[in-house]
Order: sequence, then structure tokens, then C-alpha cells
Amino acid sequence: MPRGRDVWDGYRRANVSLWNELTTVHKGTAMYDLAGFKKGRSSLNGIELKEVGDVEGKSLLHLQCHFGLDTLSFAKKGAKVTGVDFSDRAVNLARSIRSEVGVRESDAKFICSDVYDLEGKLDGQFDIVFTSYGVLAWLRDLGEWGRIISRFLKPNGFFYMVELHPLLNCFDQDSPDPSSLALKYPYFPRSRSPLRVETHGSYADRNARVREPASYQYDHPLSEVVTALTKRGLRVEFLHEFPFAYNRIFPWLVQKKGDDRWTFVAGTPPFPLLFSVKASSLAGKQ
Ligand SMILES: C[S@@+](CC[C@H](N)C(=O)[O-])C[C@H]1O[C@@H](n2cnc3c(N)ncnc32)[C@H](O)[C@@H]1O
Repeated sequence: MPRGRDVWDGYRRANVSLWNELTTVHKGTAMYDLAGFKKGRSSLNGIELKEVGDVEGKSLLHLQCHFGLDTLSFAKKGAKVTGVDFSDRAVNLARSIRSEVGVRESDAKFICSDVYDLEGKLDGQFDIVFTSYGVLAWLRDLGEWGRIISRFLKPNGFFYMVELHPLLNCFDQDSPDPSSLALKYPYFPRSRSPLRVETHGSYADRNARVREPASYQYDHPLSEVVTALTKRGLRVEFLHEFPFAYNRIFPWLVQKKGDDRWTFVAGTPPFPLLFSVKASSLAGKQ
């Protein structure tokens, strides 16, 4: 009979294997537009550009950085960045893109690590800890996540995240039109064990062939995110919710010409698709 720790290691192994495969898929997708990135496109969206603000000369730790496009975009804006991801294939790809786009290793480091093991692999503290889009579902323990964020933040530094709104987990995202949208899943986590989610392609390519049959994911309500930060002494500066997203979460979202945001068609009552949080560490922290 497998014991507790072995079971959790098994979930993690499946998730790493999925993300290794998705890295190979994603580097060729229109959504990630790697060719455009290599020609100078920034991968950062309007929300985080505005809300993170000027990063020139700041140290920035990017948790769950995937293959590093956002990390490198921050480096190109003058930050000294460290990207962390547990997918070795994603980290290797990030390092090779770094050299192709001419960012120096001293300005952008990439570390292959589980967020939960980071203390054994990285020292120091950062002005900014950043994470974004599609990260929460992979985190088994937000209390510990909050502790790690606080550990890596300098006094007077801040944590920032922009993420898919947890309310989206309640709906069937294949609903063909807004009127067929129905609550299908609970908002609150059903247990401490992860949900086994069968793999069907990727958010960046629905038809992608992915061999890993399933991944293990976690539901976290918004209250849990905020509490994980405040419990570690961080002060929430803002919590924002947005009625738009940068990818087509539901097939019936619409995009105006020249606008990169997907939003609700007129007449559909909007609900939040994204949220962002900024939380500061206090001057007196160690
Ligand atoms: C949806 S992606 C993040 C996407 C990123 N915002 C982007 O657009 O490129 C989630 C990332 O989290 C990483 N990940 C998941 N669980 C992790 C963990 N426990 N520790 C470190 N990385 C993890 C995955 O390998 C994957 O690269």
C-alpha cells in the first residue's frame, strides 16, 4: 500500500510529466508566439504591465515561470529576474530562449525547482515576487505558499499575482453560449486531496496530443489566496477583479478589433474572469 508521501510524489510526478509535454506543445503555438517574442514582442499583458509598474533596477522572483517568456520580458524592462519552474524541459527551453534574445545570464536566472522546495535551492530576498495566469490549480498548500513568498520578499517589497478567477472552476467552459452557462462544480474545495483531471489537449492548443493521461489539481477560493498572504504579515494593497481575459476562456467571449482582451457580448451580465492581488511586506520584517 503506498504511504502518504509516496502518493503526493506520484501526483507531482504526473504533473511534472504533463508540464514537460505541454512545454513542447506550447513553444509552437500561436498563443505563445515564440517567433514574435524572438523578434522583440513582450509577452506581458496590460494588467500586469500597469499594476506591477516600473521594474527597472528591481530584483524579481517569478514563481511557476513556465518557459520564461514573462520572466525575460521583465528582464528586458530592466529587472534582475529569477524564474522558477518544476518542469526541467520548461527551464531548459527558457535558458535557450534567453541566449537567443540576448539577455545575459546575470540578468535572468532560471531554476528548476518545485515552489515548495525552493528554500533548499535559492538564497536571498527580492523586491518583487510575481506569479501569473494558471498557477493556483497546481499548488497543494496555499498556507505554505504564502510562507515561501514572504520568506523571499525583502522588507518593503511586494508580491503580485494576476490569475484566472476561481469562480471559473464552477462552470463548464465548453458551454456554447452564455445562456447555457450553468453552475456545474463547487466553488469550495471538496477535500485536501487533489482532483484527478483528465488531459484533453492544452489551453493553447485543444487538439494537441498529450500522452500524460491526467493531472492532479487543487481548487482555491479567493479568500484562501488573500488569507495565505495576510497570515504571513503581508498587507493587501489591492484586490482587483476583471470582466475580461487574454485568452478565450469560453467559446462565446468576443474580442473587439485591435483589442487583445476577450470580453462579454453586450447584454450578457459580466462576472469576473481574472483577478489580481498586490500585497506588500512590511519595513520591519526580517
Ligand atoms: C499555466 S503555467 C504558467 C503559465 C505562465 N503564466 C505563462 O503564461 O507562461 C503553470 C506552470 O506552473 C508550473 N508548476 C506547476 N506546479 C509547480 C510547482 N509546484 N512548482 C513549480 N512549478 C510548478 C508548471 O510547470 C507550469 O510551467
